[in-house]
Amino acid sequence: MSNPVILIVNGPNLNMLGSRQPEVYGRETLADIETLCLARAAALGLDIEFRQSNHEGDLVDWIQQARGRSSGIVINAGAYTHTSVAILDALLAAEVPAVEVHLSNIHRREEFRQHSFVAKAAQGMICGFGSHGYVLALEALARLLKGN
Ligand code: DQA
Repeated sequence: MSNPVILIVNGPNLNMLGSRQPEVYGRETLADIETLCLARAAALGLDIEFRQSNHEGDLVDWIQQARGRSSGIVINAGAYTHTSVAILDALLAAEVPAVEVHLSNIHRREEFRQHSFVAKAAQGMICGFGSHGYVLALEALARLLKGN
C-alpha cells in the first residue's frame, strides 16, 4: 500500500529563506526545510510534495489539486496568510485537513500579521518555532490520519 501524500505549500518570499531577515526567519534555506520534512515524513510513513510559489494563483491551483489526491496539507502562505480569501476558499473546497505553519511568531509581530485567513480553514496553527514548525505539522497530520 502506498503512503498517504502530504502537500506542503509555501507562499511568497519563502524562496528567499536563508538570506531574508535571518534575525526573524533564521538561516536555513527552503531546501534545508524540504530535507528536514523529507526525513520526518519518511519516518512517519508519509510521502510529501514540497512546493513554493510567489504567485497566489499557483497556490490556489495546488490546493485545489490536493482534493482527492493528498491526505493533508501543510501551508505557510507567507504574506497571503493575511490577505487571501482565495486561498481560504481553496482550502475550504479541498476538504483535506490543513495545518498552518509560520516560522515566526506572528502574534508577537505587527498587528497586520495577527489576522490569518488561512486559520479559518486550518485544523490548527504552529508558529514561532522556525523550521521545526513544519516537522510538528507533519506529526500533527500523521496523528490525525491515524484517527487519534
Ligand atoms: C511568515 C509570516 C508572514 O507574516 C510573512 O509575510 C512571511 C512569513 C512566517 O513564516 O513567519 O512571509 O509566514
